[in-house]
Amino acid sequence: MARTVIEPFRIKTVEPILWTTRPEREQLLRAAYYNLFLLPAEDVLIDLLTDSGTGAMSTKQWAAIMQGDESYAGSKSYDHFRDSVQEIFGYRHVIPTHQGRAAERILFSVMCKKGDVVPNNTHFDTTRANVEFVGAEAVDLLISAGKHPESIHPFKGNMDVAALEDLIHRVGHDRVPLVMLTVTNNSGGGQPVSMKNVQQVSALCRRFEIPLYFDACRFAENAYFIKLREPGYERKTPKQIAQQMFSYGDGCTMSAKKDGMANIGGFLCTNNDVLAQQEKNLLILTEGYPTYGGLAGRDLEAIAVGVQEALEEDYLRYRIASTAYLGNHIAAQGVPIVQPPGGHAVYLDARAFLPHIPPEQFPGVALAAELYLEGGIRSVEIGTLMFGAAAKMDLVRLAIPRRVYTQSHIDYVVEVILEVWKKRERIQGLKLSYEAPFLRHFTARLEPVEQPVAQPV
Ligand SMILES: Cc1ncc(COP(=O)(O)O)c(C=O)c1O
Repeated sequence: MARTVIEPFRIKTVEPILWTTRPEREQLLRAAYYNLFLLPAEDVLIDLLTDSGTGAMSTKQWAAIMQGDESYAGSKSYDHFRDSVQEIFGYRHVIPTHQGRAAERILFSVMCKKGDVVPNNTHFDTTRANVEFVGAEAVDLLISAGKHPESIHPFKGNMDVAALEDLIHRVGHDRVPLVMLTVTNNSGGGQPVSMKNVQQVSALCRRFEIPLYFDACRFAENAYFIKLREPGYERKTPKQIAQQMFSYGDGCTMSAKKDGMANIGGFLCTNNDVLAQQEKNLLILTEGYPTYGGLAGRDLEAIAVGVQEALEEDYLRYRIASTAYLGNHIAAQGVPIVQPPGGHAVYLDARAFLPHIPPEQFPGVALAAELYLEGGIRSVEIGTLMFGAAAKMDLVRLAIPRRVYTQSHIDYVVEVILEVWKKRERIQGLKLSYEAPFLRHFTARLEPVEQPVAQPV
């Protein structure tokens, strides 16, 4: 078989992307206060801001959309959605939500109270915010290898099981209403969690009678990494691996905008009948009736097909190869990245890329701004702007939308990053001129720090 990994699809509809000049981008960046979230999307050439809701849907998904049953209650699209999700995830209750954070808000409102502690390998920003919003504490318990961008480990998303046990002993198991595992670990570099780690965390949770929930956004990519890297899973299909992984938990939250291959949607699953009832009551209050949960029937159909397509092996092979290609090509020229490249994204280590910019001057935001200036690429900082003083790293995430960009787009991104790498000493730090009280990175305004004026000698 030929060794070249190709896109396992051909393109039926095209969407033009538009060039801007560097002077135009300089002006646009100033108008956006150096925060790429505030840029008009049409002024971005290659948009790697997120892999969330930005994927291309398949012909089968578009066909399913036409079958959407828009009935308020008892829609058959809900049945398709529930059956498809249950086949993979295996949980008794499947509650649709408009996206992942709505599932998180409902889960934590029902399960947590003030003074509780929620461990996770690494909380994503909305997960942390929703835990804190109900007065609980979000604790990250990533293994040590996961905290060092340069260290090579096949499962850098693993949870530190000994630290979890310590925490449960220290705070008391009655203050830990649930444990979460994020697969793959987005904020920690898109790194996978091994089946062995899932089994160990699950066994510990069972011992203390604490439910285990997955943040399942990128479950298919995690399953494929297990197939590639964990002995004993080479011959299993990604679906079999995902089914096994979920069998060790009690439920999950899911943003279908990632491995649901849809542009909107999410869900909350649980095996607990009492919790499910409370969750559905809250759902009705803010999202909608339990057979649509804030989504259109057609969205449910797209997700029903999408979660299955995300597990197709040809697709996963191309997806993981394409991300690794980007990461390996820049790393080969010395660009510091989180190693090895993650599933959905490549993460530049901005502290190592720009050692002259201290964390309080947002090296990640400065680097992301420069990638835009150089080549119209939009990325996102995951670091001091996003997490404040809690940030352990300053990363710039280049998230690859699913089935959207081709090999030549990726080659272009490599070229732009290498150009910025050559000029890195000239990049300046930034300071805040506005910040919101929570999730400040979405709306923050920044400006360049003034350079000290050279004094005549
Ligand atoms: C790991 C993780 N959890 C939760 C979410 C929240 O999902 P949503 O954006 O659909 O609310 C995201 C979104 O990026 C994520 O990456």
